[in-house]
Amino acid sequence: MKKAQAALLCWYEDHGRHELPWRNTQDIYCVYLSEIMLQQTQVHRVRDQYYPQFLEKFPTLQALGNAPLDDVLAAWSGLGYYSRARNLHKTAQLCSDGLPQTKQELLKLPGIGSYTASAVCSFGYHQAEPVVDTNIARVIKRFFALSNAVAKELERNAVKLLNTTDPRSHNLALMDLGAMLCLPKNPKCTLCPLQTQCQGKNEPEIYTQKKKTVYENMELFYGILKKENKIALIQAEGNMYKNMLTLPSIDPTEEDFLASFKHSYTKYRLTVKLYKLTESDKEFIWLNLDDIDKAPLSSLTKKALFTVMR
Ligand code: ADE
Repeated sequence: MKKAQAALLCWYEDHGRHELPWRNTQDIYCVYLSEIMLQQTQVHRVRDQYYPQFLEKFPTLQALGNAPLDDVLAAWSGLGYYSRARNLHKTAQLCSDGLPQTKQELLKLPGIGSYTASAVCSFGYHQAEPVVDTNIARVIKRFFALSNAVAKELERNAVKLLNTTDPRSHNLALMDLGAMLCLPKNPKCTLCPLQTQCQGKNEPEIYTQKKKTVYENMELFYGILKKENKIALIQAEGNMYKNMLTLPSIDPTEEDFLASFKHSYTKYRLTVKLYKLTESDKEFIWLNLDDIDKAPLSSLTKKALFTVMR
């Protein structure tokens, strides 16, 4: 294992993504924020758009906890999985004296599961915790030739490989190896620092991707009611969009059709159709169209508003 660890660190030194901003900070809040953002979002979107802007608005955990939830959701707009923003806000309110320093305590906080707690401990506190995200899981699976391993087994094997002298660099190196060389399809084994020790290298079934995302097509119908420069919205229902504002859903009628557009969200391929809505006795929340960027709106709702504003 020592040889593999040394080769991995050497490779990381030369090829790792050292420039990522959350890898160049000692601030545990920044590490935690980045891990929450990176859970379901690509690295370049977090790095270029969301992470710097969010930190500018909420530079500390205390500032985040003191901000209104609507402002936090507005800053999260477009990132999706909005429960992440609600949990981030709740955690900030619960931890006004700072984040806890053990995995066990971190796990008690809303929105922090085993992966995030380990990542914060390893990347933020340099603790010898195994970190197993999807990239690292693939590396571990291949390195130890485990074809059907469950999470616990992957974690046990990640511990076997863990470099306890520099666990932070070790885990970051594994993450980068998974993202850059040990790819789901066509891994670049000849460039891999672990190629001589990799037990799965010659077992093709370890490399074939079994799970294929199945997309679902769906149509959504929304009503558009405008008064001067304001648009009628309602509180979104259901857990996924809790505390967000959305357009009212309607039963469509051909003659009121205004516009339609395509939108992708998680596994859904949506066709969103917008219809003219006439006054109703429903209670609306009236959003000034100049305030779109300050409101807790999903990117779907924003797209719909921009479509009818044109
Ligand atoms: N560096 C630290 N954590 C990371 C993550 N989750 N994804 C990509 N790079 C990271």
